Amino acid sequence: MIQLKDAWFRAGGHTILQGINLNVNLGEFIGIVGVSGAGKSTLLRLVHMEIRPTRGIVLVDNLNSATAEPDDIAIHRRKVGYIFQDFKLLEDRDVYANVAFALWATGVKRKRIKKRVFQVLAEVGLSHKRYAMIPRLSGGEQQRVAIARALANEPFILLADEPTGNLDPDNTREIMGLLQRINRKGTAVLMATHKAELVKGLASQIMQIHDGRISG
Ligand SMILES: Nc1ncnc2c1ncn2[C@@H]1O[C@H](COP(=O)(O)OP(=O)(O)O)[C@@H](O)[C@H]1O
Ligand SMILES: [Mg+2]
Repeated sequence: MIQLKDAWFRAGGHTILQGINLNVNLGEFIGIVGVSGAGKSTLLRLVHMEIRPTRGIVLVDNLNSATAEPDDIAIHRRKVGYIFQDFKLLEDRDVYANVAFALWATGVKRKRIKKRVFQVLAEVGLSHKRYAMIPRLSGGEQQRVAIARALANEPFILLADEPTGNLDPDNTREIMGLLQRINRKGTAVLMATHKAELVKGLASQIMQIHDGRISG
């Protein structure tokens, strides 16, 4: 489903990724583990096709980084969920609007939007907070909103970039449990973290990344 074949990425005179080979199958949970600056976020951006490798190939769901047109990439991105350490929510909107926005942006009809927003908020256990403003939520709740937004368009894969980096241990456990449930329902998860223990036992594959190289 996702394949990186000898993928390199150079920018600003630096080699950020070197000769990355990676295979992700449908429904897998992959941990990308490495210290800050190792190249984890850059790897996720390649899979999202925000950037293209400067050498080698990235194949995602029938798209080839060497030939994909911008329109195809835009369509591809709708089928990829993305969550971040800092949540990246619209702070001046409520929970409902944050999730609805993802659907509205892809042209879903209003009635269907409401149904789907309620559905994904139930999945992440936030139905009771649907009209709460973002700053009134705890960090764990904010990440759950971000996960609901990422799931709204039924992605085949969820990219998670240090999703628990801003959370305390209790919220970290809760978010990891949620990611595991989402994965068990069939969504592949590709999670970058500097904490190997978070993905141990959960991930079907753990890739260690060091200075832009897969090291084990
Ligand atoms: N577009 C870019 N231009 C120059 N340097 C970059 C670019 N993107 C990332 N880097 C550098 O590449 C290294 C790896 O970055 P990143 O993928 O964000 O690592 P990680 O997510 O593991 O912390 C860092 O040193 C970062 O500053
Ligand atoms: Mg990063």
